Amino acid sequence: MLKASLITDKYFVTGKVDPRIYGSFIEHLGRAVYEGIYQPGSPFADEMGLRKDTIELVKELNVPVTRYPGGNFVSAYNWEDSVGPVNERPKRPELAWQVIESNEFGLNEFMTWAKLAGTEPMMAVNLGTRGIDAARNVLEYCNFKGGTYYSDLRKKHGVDEPYNIKLWCLGNEMDGPWQIGHKSATEYGSLAWETAKAMKTLDPNIELVACGSSGLWMPTFGDWEATVLDYCYDSVDYISLHTYYNNHANDSADFLANSLGMNDFIKSVVATCDYIKGKKHSKKQINLSFDEWNVWYHSNEADRKLEKWVHAPHQLEDVYNMEDALLVGSMLITLINNCDRVKIACLAQLVNVIAPIMTSDTGIWRQTIYYPFMHASNFGRGTVLTSIVDSPVYDSKNYCDVPYLDSAVVWNEENNEIVIFGVNKSFEEDMELTCDLRQFGDVKIKEHIILTHENLKAENTEAAPDTVAPMLSGKDVADDGKCTFILPKQSWNVIKILY
Ligand code: AHR
Repeated sequence: MLKASLITDKYFVTGKVDPRIYGSFIEHLGRAVYEGIYQPGSPFADEMGLRKDTIELVKELNVPVTRYPGGNFVSAYNWEDSVGPVNERPKRPELAWQVIESNEFGLNEFMTWAKLAGTEPMMAVNLGTRGIDAARNVLEYCNFKGGTYYSDLRKKHGVDEPYNIKLWCLGNEMDGPWQIGHKSATEYGSLAWETAKAMKTLDPNIELVACGSSGLWMPTFGDWEATVLDYCYDSVDYISLHTYYNNHANDSADFLANSLGMNDFIKSVVATCDYIKGKKHSKKQINLSFDEWNVWYHSNEADRKLEKWVHAPHQLEDVYNMEDALLVGSMLITLINNCDRVKIACLAQLVNVIAPIMTSDTGIWRQTIYYPFMHASNFGRGTVLTSIVDSPVYDSKNYCDVPYLDSAVVWNEENNEIVIFGVNKSFEEDMELTCDLRQFGDVKIKEHIILTHENLKAENTEAAPDTVAPMLSGKDVADDGKCTFILPKQSWNVIKILY
């Protein structure tokens, strides 16, 4: 049995969780929109064609913000194609994913869906093929009260009141050569600054996210952030980070260690933001929007064989397993522990496309990664406490001193509750975790939820949707402010403690 310990105190405050770190993402890609959230004629859809079963699960996940409409998709997108009478909307060859976009579902349909699903929009503008003009026009359409060309067009389309969309992304992954309209850091920084200026002149209440690097592995990483922020520091509020991990090498110990890489990524971007802050003698702090993160690789091979220029193919349909849920859990823990600077994060994506939720013509089911996300989103809101953790460590191919235990402590003062999230990364041994919570007085264990499976490759499918599902532990002890928990090998744990 491995042994680990954790000490925390209500005065060791890392910061408050911004609930928007439990955001997600819907891109016009594969079956995310078509069949995922919109499927007219389906027995699961309402009169508008919106899938009610998907809305129910999105509500269960408690997703505060949803990024839309892309992703790579946004870089060649004409937002005007997606509004107005559906039968007049153009079909287009969609260049990012080489499919056909019918535009049957567009901006106003998304806003209706978002309201029903209880999520706020995080809208991206096209800075690939387009620029300042399209960005200010779509903002006018969405947020201007009326009496102007685009706000009146919105009214003509049946939406009287402005949406007042608060969060906007200035393009997507503009550092990536795969992006339609890819730019150098200087080109993008200058365009982001000018676009931000125009958008904030029109609506000073909005918040803007500038594109950071598409990954820590990008050769331009670091220089990109510094150059872009040098241009647009004063006009933007966040810089984005994206990361996807894979286990192509089938080295599960190394795969699970990637949460360390994610943490380094965050720390490096924070350092770059603060370097530019210092250089500019600015009082303003730029925070982080980790607006794409997940595991993505299971579907790579199948996607290479897909037929091109079809509508809504089965694209990026990763089927997630137990070890993916563990890494997603560790990534959530990393986001929580960096809550002082990461204010927005989007699990990419939400439905059918590298997603926690899967749909078919006959039903809906929860992938393995659904559970850590649902637990963190529902129970990980409050104040994050810094803890002193002592855990045994291992070395893997790409990382040294990887703790077997990943943990985060969230204090929910309103409910007199402390929630500990923990991942035991050992494949051989259970872990005895001793927690010293004496600063909270006499504590008692409310619930210990465990997600684990003997087989790291176990998956949930439509035929067997509950292969990997949470269960409750009965093996823990609390005594005089000290608690001992057993974290099974290869498990995700949510421990709720009352004081
Ligand atoms: O989420 C899938 C894709 O990954 C997004 O479209 C893009 O931004 C990223 O490369």
